[in-house]
Amino acid sequence: MIIYAHRGLSGCYPENTMIAFQKAYECGARALELDVQITKDEKIVVIHDEKIDRTTNGKGFVKDFTVDEIKDFDAGSWFDHLYKDEKIPTLEEVLQWLSNIEGRMLVNIELKNKEFSQRKFLRELINVIKKYDSPNHHIIFSSFIFENLIELRNLDKEVSLALLIEWNNNYSVKEIMRLSKIVNAKYVHTDIRFLQSDIVDMLCNLINVCVYTVNDNNIYEIAKSKGIFGIFTDFANKMI
Ligand code: G3P
Repeated sequence: MIIYAHRGLSGCYPENTMIAFQKAYECGARALELDVQITKDEKIVVIHDEKIDRTTNGKGFVKDFTVDEIKDFDAGSWFDHLYKDEKIPTLEEVLQWLSNIEGRMLVNIELKNKEFSQRKFLRELINVIKKYDSPNHHIIFSSFIFENLIELRNLDKEVSLALLIEWNNNYSVKEIMRLSKIVNAKYVHTDIRFLQSDIVDMLCNLINVCVYTVNDNNIYEIAKSKGIFGIFTDFANKMI
C-alpha cells in the first residue's frame, strides 16, 4: 500500500511546510500530499485553507496577499513555537527541493480552489511542474472540484488525475466510475468513512483507490485487507 504523508509529516510538524515535507522524506515516506492556493500576484503557494488564519499568525485570504507579503507570516508557531521560522512554501520551492532528493517520490497536489478551473492558473501550474520535471518524482493532481479536473484534462492529456470524493451516502460505484472516466482519472481518493461501505470493495476491483485520512493502525489493517491502493496519513512515520 502507498503511504502518502498527508500535508507532509503533519501529525508531528506544521502541515504543508518545508519541515513537514523534509521530515516525511526522512522517515521513509515516498509519497507526499500537499494542497495549493493562488496568491494575489497569481503564484501558487502550498497551504490547505483559502484563508491563512488557521495555520499562520496572520488573517485574511491567500488571494489577497502577494507571495512576498505571504512570506512575512509565521506558518509554524500555531503548531509549536519551535517552528516559528517556517513559511508558507511556494509550489516552486517544494518542487525544487523534490528535484534534489534521492529516490523517487509520488506527489499528490490537491487543487483546493475553484479558481484553478481558469486556464491562466492551470497554465501557471503546468509551467511550474514542467520547470522542475524530474525522473525522481511523479505528480498526481486531485481536486474535490470536478470542474478543476475537467479543465486540467482539457489542457493536458498526459497528467495523472485523481478524483477526490467526500463522504456522502448517496454515491454509487457507477457514478464514481462515470466521473472518473470523464476526466480519465487513474485514481479515486475517498473519505475514510467509505471503508465501512461495500462501495470501496467494488471500486477496488475497478480502479486504484486511496483513502484519507488513516491515522489508526486498525483502520490501516482494514484498508490493507480490502486491497486499498494507498492511504493518506498524518503519521507517515507510524504507518511506515
Ligand atoms: O487529498 C486527500 C485529503 O487531503 C483530502 O482532504 O481536507 O485534507 O484536503 P483534505
